[in-house]
Parts: sequence; structure tokens; C-alpha cells
Amino acid sequence: MQKDTMTSLLIRHVRPYGEGDTVDVLVEDGCISRITPCGEITSLPDNCDEYDGKGNVLLPGLVDIHVHLREPGREGTETIASGSAAAARGGFTAVLTMPNTKPVIDNNNLAEMIWSKGQEIGLCDVYPVGSITVGLQGKELSEMGLMNKGKAHVRWFSDDGKCVNNPLVMRRALEYAAGFGATIAQHAEEDRLTEGAIAHEGPMAAKLGMKRWPRAAEESIVARDILLARDAHARIHVCHASTKGTVELLKWARTQGVTITAEVTPHHLLLNDSVLPTYNGVYRVNPPLREDSDNEALQQALVDGVIDCVATDHAPHGSEETCCEFAKAANGMLGLETSLAILAQVMVETGRMTWRDIARVMSERPAELVGLSDQGRPLAVGEPANLTVIDPDAGWKVHGEELASIASNTPYEGMEFRARPVLTVLRGHVTARDGVVEF
Ligand code: DOR
Ligand code: ZN
Repeated sequence: MQKDTMTSLLIRHVRPYGEGDTVDVLVEDGCISRITPCGEITSLPDNCDEYDGKGNVLLPGLVDIHVHLREPGREGTETIASGSAAAARGGFTAVLTMPNTKPVIDNNNLAEMIWSKGQEIGLCDVYPVGSITVGLQGKELSEMGLMNKGKAHVRWFSDDGKCVNNPLVMRRALEYAAGFGATIAQHAEEDRLTEGAIAHEGPMAAKLGMKRWPRAAEESIVARDILLARDAHARIHVCHASTKGTVELLKWARTQGVTITAEVTPHHLLLNDSVLPTYNGVYRVNPPLREDSDNEALQQALVDGVIDCVATDHAPHGSEETCCEFAKAANGMLGLETSLAILAQVMVETGRMTWRDIARVMSERPAELVGLSDQGRPLAVGEPANLTVIDPDAGWKVHGEELASIASNTPYEGMEFRARPVLTVLRGHVTARDGVVEF
């Protein structure tokens, strides 16, 4: 149930953006009401909840613009409730869930149902992404305008999992969406180049005899869409950018004044095709894990702002779909509860980014892209209390079975990370505290 906003919360002893001295943060009526040096707040409102931040990092609540919560249709792997719990534990206060459900989110009724259900559960704001085409068939456009006008105010459209391959359909989608300021988020994959492919086209897959997915399958669609978006004066977004060539195309598009944005997944920043010799189906993902030179280019693009944000592409699958022959495994891996830890390891612990940068790529920028006015806000008095506290030195080991998701297909099983979200707050209410979800 949506909780009332009349309770208060004192978060003691945290460092906003991991900078400067520790402060105490008082939250009242869903907003930040005071930020003071530690110990200055002596009289607390009645029934005030308290949390000792122990000097940890305070960030705005994380926002993930690309998850798959599998409801309706595949509730055996994830539901809006279990996915919201995973999001809360991962430090997220808002997620966008993709429309490749059964049935597909190609109509306003379903979009509103998902939005309302997320609000009832109340652990995280769950925004439905509308499909671009009816039934993800790539032929007829969905009722994007109606979904946009409806209660869920859908403003992000994608056929994710599939590419809108037909350039005429793509052009019409861009023109239609531009009419009401919505964004078309493309899963860039020229599928005539990837038929039967199971791994990245590099020396590793060649050695293992795996059928290969070339970088050009992604890049040729990104290049085409840049030109289509330019002509339609439309907003185009690249889902899960995975190649160094895509990074170069993004740079070029911006020199042409095209409104293009892009996301990168934690797995494309950290993992690469060196894991393929395990033949472990949990590493099968679309687009596939590339090479270390791609990891490097994607990391640099995130630092430079060429790639706008991180998105997990959290993709739950049952064990029968991942604990099998690599060639038969389903594409996709869990991401919500490990995303922050990976970004900390790859970008912060290496000195490539600060916590303030993490706030930019995991909260502020994604909220801005999608137009979520109450997310990704500054840590300041009067702002909505959508917050997360991160312990940079928690030290923890990933176990798929212990994650809140119904599925447990994490590629990080047994890996140790340092950073972990320890408190998540949605509009002033604690949704997860020290790993425990608070319904
Ligand atoms: O690996 C993936 N899994 N990539 C996609 O684009 C879709 C997703 C899924 O739905 O499982
Ligand atoms: Zn996806």
C-alpha cells in the first residue's frame, strides 16, 4: 500500500555525495526539512524513525531506466513486488520496466495496471515503458499517444529485446513520439547479422566455435537511427550500448546536433568474452559481452558523459533457462542488487569517478532523460526525500539465492564487492534497511 507521508525520519551521520563533514538529515512529510552538522538536531518530531549512517555516503535515490520485471506473464521469474524489493535493496527509488511481457505493454490499460501495482506495493516507483510496435512485431505502431496521456504518463518507448529493424517503421515511430516529446529507446541489433549468434564476434568465440554477433550489427542500427532522428527532430536513446564503435557514433551524432542519449549496463563495463570458456549460460546476454577494449571505451565514455547513464537491463530467467547448454541459454542476467557495487568497483575504487559522478550517472541523469521531476534531485532542504545511503566498505559476497529476485541468474555468484546500499528511502519512507526490505 502507498504509505502516508506524515512520518519523519532522522538519518544521522552521513556524507552527502561522499564529500566533506558528516551531517544529520531530517526528513519530514516526504521531503528533506533540515541538513545540519552532526548532533545539532536535539528535539525530534513525534514517532521519528532514526538511522545511524555511520559516516557513509548519502546519494539521491538511484534510478534505473531499463529493467524487466516480467509481470504479467512470467511471474515465476520476477514480479512487480519481487522486482521492487530487489530495486529497494539495490538503492533504487524508481525503475522503468520494459514491455516485453506477456501480453506486451502496447496499450494504455496495461501500462496503467503496472503503474498502479507499483504504487500499491510502494517500494519503488515502477514506470512502464510502452512498446513501439504492437506485440513487438515491428509492424504497426502502438498507441503511444494514449499511453502518454494516461495515468502512467508513459514517455519512454522501446521494443527492447527486439530491434525496430524496418527503417520506415522506425522513422514513423520517431516522428510520432517527437510530437509529444517522448523518446524512442532502441535495442540496436541488425538481426540479419545476428541470426543464430550466441556470443560476441571476437577471437574468443572463434576459438570456441560459437556463432558470432558482430559489433557492426549494433553500430549499423545506431548510425541509421542517428540519421532518422536528425530528420525527424526526435529524441533517440541507445539501450545497452556495448561497443567502442557505438561510443564513436554517439560523439559524431552530437556534433550534428542530434538529440541522442545512451546507457551502459554494469555487465558491459565489467565483464567481457574472457568468461566464455566456462560455457556458463548465465553469461549469455544480448548484446553479448564484448572485449576488454570495449569495457575500456565504455568506461571512458561514462566518465566523459558521452554515455549518459547506467541501466542494469535486469533480466530474470529461471534456472532451466540459464543452467543449460550455452547455445540454448536465455539472454540476460540479474542486475538490480549488484549495480551499485559494480560501479563502485569499476569506477570509484579505481579513482575514475567520484561519488558525485555516481549520483550523476545512476540518479540525476537517468531521471532527467525520462523526465522524472521528483527523482535525481539535489540533496538539499525542500527536495523530495528519495535517498540512498551507501556503505563503501561493507564487503559482501554475492549469492543468487539470497537476492530478492525470484530468479537467481546472477553472473557475479561468489564474487566479492566492497560497496553496498544500506538504506533506501522513498518519499521519506524506508524501503530497505541493512538489506531488509520494509513493506
Ligand atoms: O539479454 C537480454 N535480455 N537482452 C534483452 O534485450 C532482453 C532481455 C530479456 O528480456 O531477457
Ligand atoms: Zn532489456
